[in-house]
Amino acid sequence: MAALAACTPDKAVPSPAAANAPSMASHAPSATPSSVPTTDPAAVTPPASPEPSSAAPSSAVAPQHSLTDPTSPWVIVNKHRPLNPQDFVPADLVQPNVRLAVSGEASMVNSTTAAAAEKMFGAAASEGVVMALASGYRSYTTQVATYNGYVASTGQAAADRASARPGHSEHQTGWSFDIADGGGACSFQPCFADQPAAVWAKANAHKFGFVVRYPWMFHDTTGYFYESWHLRYVGVEAATDMANRGIATLEEYFGLEAAPDYL
Ligand code: DAL
Ligand code: ZN
Repeated sequence: MAALAACTPDKAVPSPAAANAPSMASHAPSATPSSVPTTDPAAVTPPASPEPSSAAPSSAVAPQHSLTDPTSPWVIVNKHRPLNPQDFVPADLVQPNVRLAVSGEASMVNSTTAAAAEKMFGAAASEGVVMALASGYRSYTTQVATYNGYVASTGQAAADRASARPGHSEHQTGWSFDIADGGGACSFQPCFADQPAAVWAKANAHKFGFVVRYPWMFHDTTGYFYESWHLRYVGVEAATDMANRGIATLEEYFGLEAAPDYL
């Protein structure tokens, strides 16, 4: 049985998250307050009025791209921040030229993410690490089926730690995708964290603009247990800044409230 097949629409039947469930989100990331990234090279046009982070912790950066517009590489979608519009569909979905472990809409991401993924997969391959795209874009309708499948198999509380409710999944933005190992070992399971693709991605994804969006021990911030397979594009500058400053979550980086549960 696949534990925590959190992001795949049709691999469902996840087991309860016990094996992957950290007991406490105890190791807070350390961060220094001074660094503010300059223009993100992969970015969209900054919005007229990006969200201020008036109550931001000291680690927060000033938003240079919208945190709410789903076409922005800095859009933050979590249990407190649904997509707007709820039925958003990226206008530039493409299938990246990478090894695919999936077909159909799930093999697609937005064009910026696709280009970055091609570079990252290529760099991994050049170091002998085979990486496959396991699940990319997911429509609102697909997320309905995915989430309902989790609820049916694990109950709502466990489902909410593994799968986003419809309208709350990063997969719908086109900025996220899940990776698998070349041989498919441990896909969507806690043990994927020890597979070469995950180890490589954790160490190198930021160089290509990606962050591991749901890191280990930060479920009280992100709302989800560790997903070593789920990568999110935010641009090289922001991802590298986070890595350099030891900031684990986008919520902290942008000075947003933790979102452990739905409001
Ligand atoms: N597994 C992530 C949280 C999602 O469903 O989008
Ligand atoms: Zn995912």
